Amino acid sequence: MDADNPLYAISYVSESLIPEDQLDEQLAAIQGKSHENNAASGLTGKLIYCRNFFVQRLEGPKNAVDAAMARIRKDSRHTGFKVISMQRLEERLYAEWDQLGVITDGPLLDELDGTLQHLASRPVLSVSDEEVSVMLSTLEAAANSDR
Ligand SMILES: Cc1cc2nc3c(=O)[nH]c(=O)nc-3n(C[C@H](O)[C@H](O)[C@H](O)COP(=O)(O)O)c2cc1C
Repeated sequence: MDADNPLYAISYVSESLIPEDQLDEQLAAIQGKSHENNAASGLTGKLIYCRNFFVQRLEGPKNAVDAAMARIRKDSRHTGFKVISMQRLEERLYAEWDQLGVITDGPLLDELDGTLQHLASRPVLSVSDEEVSVMLSTLEAAANSDR
């Protein structure tokens, strides 16, 4: 990885605008596109959908991460896009682009639940450091499970 284009990771949260009756179809479309584009640009990471919120982490060469984020943040299927972490990486946390995780129950939901309930009642822009750390550790737990 050259100095101008280091290995990099960005995580964000956003609120879904997808109507309930289109959810399965739209999540499948996002998963399909992400799988295709991310593999082609050397991006890895994970997208979680949970109670109307998205939490995503993307890792890869900085240029590729920035280009993908610029596209994703303009997507009309979500709003309140908020970057919660940006960092240079020595090595990837995710070896590949994971399947979209839809969390409807289980320990990960319990972990995220308080944070998301709280987020739902106010602008997503006011995410606290503590909430960021809960979401990142949930993503990390998701990275270390299901594989
Ligand atoms: C929550 C969310 C996450 C997304 N994640 C990705 C992603 O990781 N990679 C990607 O290429 N597109 C992702 N997309 C889709 C992009 O916004 C955009 O529709 C897509 O990249 C366009 O690809 P195309 O120019 O090849 O048609 C995501 C969309 C949403 C709503």
